[in-house]
Amino acid sequence: MLRRVMLETRLLPATAAGIAEAARLLAEGALVAVPTETVYGLAADATDGRAVAGIFGAKGRPSFNPLIVHLADCEAARRLVAFDPRAERLAAAFWPGPLTMVLPRRPDCPVSELASAGLPSLAVRVPAHPVARRLLALCGRPLAAPSANRSGQVSPTRAEHVMAELDGRIDAVLDAGPCAVGVESTIVGLADGEARLLRPGGVAPEAIEALIGPLSRATGGTIEAPGMLESHYAPARPVRLDAATAKAGEALLAFGPPPQVGPATVVLNLSPAGDLAEAAANLFAHLRALDRPEISAIAVMPVPQQGLGLAINDRLRRAAAPRPGDKRPS
Ligand code: TXA
Ligand code: MG
Repeated sequence: MLRRVMLETRLLPATAAGIAEAARLLAEGALVAVPTETVYGLAADATDGRAVAGIFGAKGRPSFNPLIVHLADCEAARRLVAFDPRAERLAAAFWPGPLTMVLPRRPDCPVSELASAGLPSLAVRVPAHPVARRLLALCGRPLAAPSANRSGQVSPTRAEHVMAELDGRIDAVLDAGPCAVGVESTIVGLADGEARLLRPGGVAPEAIEALIGPLSRATGGTIEAPGMLESHYAPARPVRLDAATAKAGEALLAFGPPPQVGPATVVLNLSPAGDLAEAAANLFAHLRALDRPEISAIAVMPVPQQGLGLAINDRLRRAAAPRPGDKRPS
């Protein structure tokens, strides 16, 4: 589908009729943003190379970045990739849910080569969101879906976030309200021997290690996941980490009991009670809400580095990373 012309992006309700319409559009090769428990994904039929190409175009995403393919159940995933005993154990424990596994593609895998960017591996996930599950069951085909944001920007946790960046560039948004988890799935690489944590996310690495033993942590070098680009998930305004409080002109992203600030300072709290799951669910929406032209920077209070805190700190560190020139990564 050519993306040069502006499309009329339809907002579909997450009713039986809305989900059926989304499934019909996807079968025709359209691009539809869909809710998952982590963030909204920009979905297309993963077996349709032209539709998958449309995702890269709409996001402005570098084409070397492979996509996650979403399936209705574990059976459907087994048809695309080769499971090993570790994958079986993780699927049994965490699917449906916020875990993505990178596994070897089967020789007869029908997914477009473009979705895995020519790699011999494929990232697969069975999402838990009831609307995503109903849609996948209705579609009866794998859906490639990266987060539904322009490349390099903050991931969307509400339909309005998707519209703000992709209105006119995609066919529809299926609106099911805010996402419960709020950070993307944890990605575990199992395709080449050792188990590797490619991206921290909605499942705590400790819970994975309890089942399959230690995960090796990806080190720099070649980019295996765009989440591994240093500057990513970036708001327009600078982000200052480990802040005890906000300086004049800054907005404050608090965690736990907030410090006293002047009346001019805008404060949003990830979780006043210090709950990491609540903080993850609020992270991207709060970053977006604080990213206002009148502030000089977003000051962020420290978040504990454990459980979901790993994913939260990973996203915050990338949001604060030096940006090449004045430009976001494309
Ligand atoms: O929670 C999520 O994972 C969301 C929702 C929509 O499911 N999706 C998401 O997709 O975050 P995306 O495209 O923004 O991030 C997918 C990550 C990328 O960093 C990509 O490089 C990595 O998965 N990935 C995909 N296929 C891979 C492969 N074959 N090998 C290594 N990394 C891969
Ligand atoms: Mg993304």
